[in-house]
Amino acid sequence: MAGNIHISVRDVIKVYESKGEKVTALKGVSMNVYKGEVVAVMGPSGSGKTTLLNLIAGVDKPTAGKIIVAGDDITRFNENQLRLYRLEKIGYVFQQFNLVPTLTALENVLLPMSLRGKRNVARARKLLESVGLGGKENRFPEELSGGEQQRLAIAIALANDPEIIIADEPTGELDISTGEKVVQLLLRESKEHGKTILMTTHDPRVARMANRVILLEDGIIKGEYEPTKISYRVEEGALGEIHAERIIADYLKDRLSGLQRELEILVERFKSGEVSIEELADRYYEIRHLMNALRSELAKLGAGVEAH
Ligand SMILES: Nc1ncnc2c1ncn2[C@@H]1O[C@H](COP(=O)(O)OP(=O)(O)O)[C@@H](O)[C@H]1O
Ligand SMILES: [Mg+2]
Repeated sequence: MAGNIHISVRDVIKVYESKGEKVTALKGVSMNVYKGEVVAVMGPSGSGKTTLLNLIAGVDKPTAGKIIVAGDDITRFNENQLRLYRLEKIGYVFQQFNLVPTLTALENVLLPMSLRGKRNVARARKLLESVGLGGKENRFPEELSGGEQQRLAIAIALANDPEIIIADEPTGELDISTGEKVVQLLLRESKEHGKTILMTTHDPRVARMANRVILLEDGIIKGEYEPTKISYRVEEGALGEIHAERIIADYLKDRLSGLQRELEILVERFKSGEVSIEELADRYYEIRHLMNALRSELAKLGAGVEAH
């Protein structure tokens, strides 16, 4: 696809260090995404897909390399610049939605607007309408179906009219026909509003709807594929041999409900004026990302995720 480069990833390496152990999640990744393009990243679990998205979304910083978005090297941004970047330029759609359970659909869409100081109820209603949730503004997340929750997550991602939508396995929790509708919504954002879309998926049917498919394996880009030719299947059961998985799963579930609670309390404290908008913006973002990471660990364990 010819056109303007919107996102340029240059020789990016990401090394995580936990408990003295180093994991190189990305081993020198370079790629371009053009403006208005829909790119799907595929690859087995652990290949570095989420890491790549998080670096581009400005959630985390690479160990080496550059990421240039609309001409700015975001790896040189300070915390404040990154916060603005995340709020204004990026809409992040999580696999597990990560909605605030104590807020209605409408309030969930208004939250990122408030964080940016641009609360706009009319626009929030319009967004909900556009994702097919007109009339359901006052429902709480748990009163919505899985497909509706995911569409709400898209409306939230679009709240601040970002140039780039990043979606980490946006159809992961949905059946295929619901999933296809969700992807159609993302495609519409690209076609009608020129938004650039970068998503990860395990599902070849979803990948075939993209303009371009990039295959990531073990932290390296293995190739680029014509979406129509995708029949790639991720091998099953690669993570079957985890001992004490119950214990780990229980720990993860505990952490998750703690975070959910923290998110609720944070929003309450913000509403009552105890917490500043900057504190809310930082923590809201961190909590949602942490929850996403924990939930994907849980999913890998095959323990399922009980919504509550
Ligand atoms: N916060 C982290 N700390 C340590 N290791 C991590 C962290 N996040 C991811 N990893 C590791 O980096 C590798 C890539 O993970 P990830 O980007 O989540 O892959 P994918 O999304 O393709 O499943 C995996 O080996 C994973 O265990
Ligand atoms: Mg992932």
